[in-house]
Amino acid sequence: MGRLRLGVLVSGRGSNLQALIDACADPAFPAEIGLVLSNRPDAYGLERASLAGLPTLGIPHRGFPDREAHERALDAALRDADVGLVCLAGYMRLLTPWFVERWRDRLVNIHPSLLPAFKGLDTHARALAAGVRFHGCTVHFVRPEMDDGPIIVQAAVPVAPGDDADSLAERVLAAEHQIYPLAVRLVAEGRARVSGERVELDARDPLPQATLNPSG
Ligand code: GRF
Repeated sequence: MGRLRLGVLVSGRGSNLQALIDACADPAFPAEIGLVLSNRPDAYGLERASLAGLPTLGIPHRGFPDREAHERALDAALRDADVGLVCLAGYMRLLTPWFVERWRDRLVNIHPSLLPAFKGLDTHARALAAGVRFHGCTVHFVRPEMDDGPIIVQAAVPVAPGDDADSLAERVLAAEHQIYPLAVRLVAEGRARVSGERVELDARDPLPQATLNPSG
């Protein structure tokens, strides 16, 4: 079977894109990147993709009369590139229900919290303000509501005494770079399927043990 072709949408620095690029560099990884798209032609993510020899396209949203018109252009580019799974990786525009339904169950996002907690922006500062002992990140299938949809993989990271939003963000980002390739692999291998708005997993590894924070 061929590798699943990814279309990655970025608006910024693209460190999650880089994690996917690195994963796809392994010929045994079941996906490859067919196109990297951005609504910001100056996004550093596009440069990372070019450096890796990948096709890129900047489609600024400003030139379009409305959101859906812009997304129709994105959609056409993704189809031209024969993309089978769209990965949002720091794509900072809310997608319309039209686009989300068109790519239903073939559109995933990474969010820097343990959903459904802390949807939206500034998740690290809000987690600290809430005093949680664990924070983390989530890869999920996208639904029209922001940061909503069937969960594929999550990583929990401990909140350390003395953390500020930056130190916590750094710890979470390292986990993001692990779980995005893992989630893509599970989807590409048909081991993460949506059923009744939850993801049914064919997980072959033993469950990790419970982790306590503080540990004793
Ligand atoms: C990440 O924290 C991701 O979870 C969120 O936006 C940020 C993008 O970072 N959706 P990068 O562009 O991948 O470095």
